[in-house]
Order: sequence, then C-alpha cells, then structure tokens
Amino acid sequence: MYDAPKVIVGILIFLIIVTLPIWYNAACSKCPSEMPEVVILTADEPGRDTCVMETGYMKTNHMDVLNVWRNDVIRDGDRIFVAEDGRKFQKSLTNTCMDCHSNKEQFCDQCHTALSVDPYCWTCHLTPGDLAPKEVE
Ligand code: HEC
Ligand code: HEC
Ligand code: HEC
Repeated sequence: MYDAPKVIVGILIFLIIVTLPIWYNAACSKCPSEMPEVVILTADEPGRDTCVMETGYMKTNHMDVLNVWRNDVIRDGDRIFVAEDGRKFQKSLTNTCMDCHSNKEQFCDQCHTALSVDPYCWTCHLTPGDLAPKEVE
C-alpha cells in the first residue's frame, strides 16, 4: 500500500515550507527584504548616482545618519559631510537628501507606509512638494 514514514516526512516538509514566512518574520521585524522596491530618480546622473553612504547601509541606517547630521549641525555647527569618495554635502534633510530623493511619495513615503513607519520630521522640515512653484490661474 503506501509508505507511512515517507508520507509523514513529506507532510512535515510541506508544513515547514508553507510556514517559512512566519518564522522569517518572527526572526526579524524589519527585514530589508520586506522593504518595497523604491524609485531612484538620480541613478543616471553623474555625482548623483550613489547615495551619501553605501546603499545597503543607507537602507537600514538612514535614520541614524539623519540623527547624527542633526546633532552635528545643531550642537556643533558642523554642516559639511565628506563622503568616502570625496564628494561634499551639506548635512541637511531638505537640501541634501530631498535634493536627490525629490520623489518623496514614491521613495520615503512608499517604503515607510508599507512598513507602518511615520517620521514626524515634515511638520517642520520642508518637502520638495512644498518647494514646487505654485501654479497661477
Ligand atoms: C547625491 C544624491 C543622493 C543624496 C544626497 C542622497 N541619496 Fe540616498 N540614494 C541615492 C541613490 C542614487 C541611491 C540608490 C543607489 C543604488 O541603487 O545603489 C540611494 C539610496 C538610498 C536609500 C536606499 C534605497 C533602497 O531601498 O535601495 C535610502 C534609504 C536613501 N538613499 C536615503 C537617503 C537619505 C536619508 C539621504 C540624506 C541623509 C540621502 N539618501 C541622500 C542618491 C542620493
Ligand atoms: C527602503 C525603505 C525605506 C526608504 C526608501 C526610506 N526609509 Fe526611512 N525608514 C525605513 C524603516 C524600515 C524605518 C524604521 C526603522 C525602525 O523602526 O527601526 C525608517 C525610519 C526612518 C526615520 C526614523 C523615524 C522614526 O520615527 O524613528 C526617518 C527620520 C526616516 N526613516 C527618514 C527617511 C527619509 C527622509 C527617506 C527618504 C529620503 C526615507 N526615510 C526613505 C525605511 C525606509
Ligand atoms: C519641531 C520642529 C522640527 C521637527 C519636528 C524636526 N526638526 Fe529637524 N530641525 C529643526 C530646526 C529648527 C533645525 C535647525 C535648522 C538649521 O539650523 O538649519 C533642524 C535641523 C535639522 C537637521 C540639520 C539641518 C538641515 O538642514 O536639515 C537635520 C538633519 C534634521 N533637522 C533632521 C530631522 C529629522 C530626521 C526629523 C524627524 C525625525 C526632524 N529633523 C524633525 C526643526 C525640527
């Protein structure tokens, strides 16, 4: 008839595969692989084709970078960041991050919304939309 041990092993393997996402999510609450694909606007522009730090690092640590920049500017008046490749940037959320990532809705917001993160920065800091010229009638 049929081979009971083989059937049981088969069922076990099936169960493990089906529940893999649950184990994976339990093991890390904000896994980089869960983050949605985002639209990078400046990927073809020389000098604007790489982030201020390595992409993988930025993906998981950009909030720390922003915190450090804010403290440097506000506590020490230190406004210049020198990237590893020598490019110099102003340590600024609006003037630097949002200059390259001006598509806030498709970049910052899309990823944050998918992961239920809601940074409060924009109650004070301007977004590219705020800076866009207003149409006149
Ligand atoms: C000079 C242009 C430039 C500046 C300034 C810049 N970025 Fe980037 N950023 C990029 C580019 C280009 C990529 C994609 C690089 C790649 O695909 O390897 C990127 C990638 C990222 C990513 C990873 C996105 C993903 O899922 O792959 C995050 C998050 C990010 N940037 C946030 C920031 C923040 C926050 C700041 C300001 C502290 C900032 N960036 C400043 C150009 C820039
Ligand atoms: C690829 C996904 C992704 C992109 C793109 C992204 N973020 Fe984030 N961001 C996250 C995640 C995930 C967290 C929360 C991490 C945590 O809770 O530990 C976060 C947290 C933050 C925080 C801290 C919020 C808090 O309440 O702690 C700030 C500030 C922030 N992001 C700014 C930005 C800005 C500005 C951009 C666009 C330039 C951006 N992020 C783009 C994934 C992303
Ligand atoms: C209550 C208002 C307020 C909120 C909310 C706020 N900031 Fe700021 N932030 C300021 C002010 C004021 C400055 C000083 C501006 C200057 O001197 O250039 C500043 C400066 C900064 C700077 C350095 C200067 C620059 O041009 O960006 C960074 C980086 C920064 N904030 C990041 C953040 C981030 C990230 C968040 C959200 C997690 C945030 N801020 C939320 C008011 C605010």
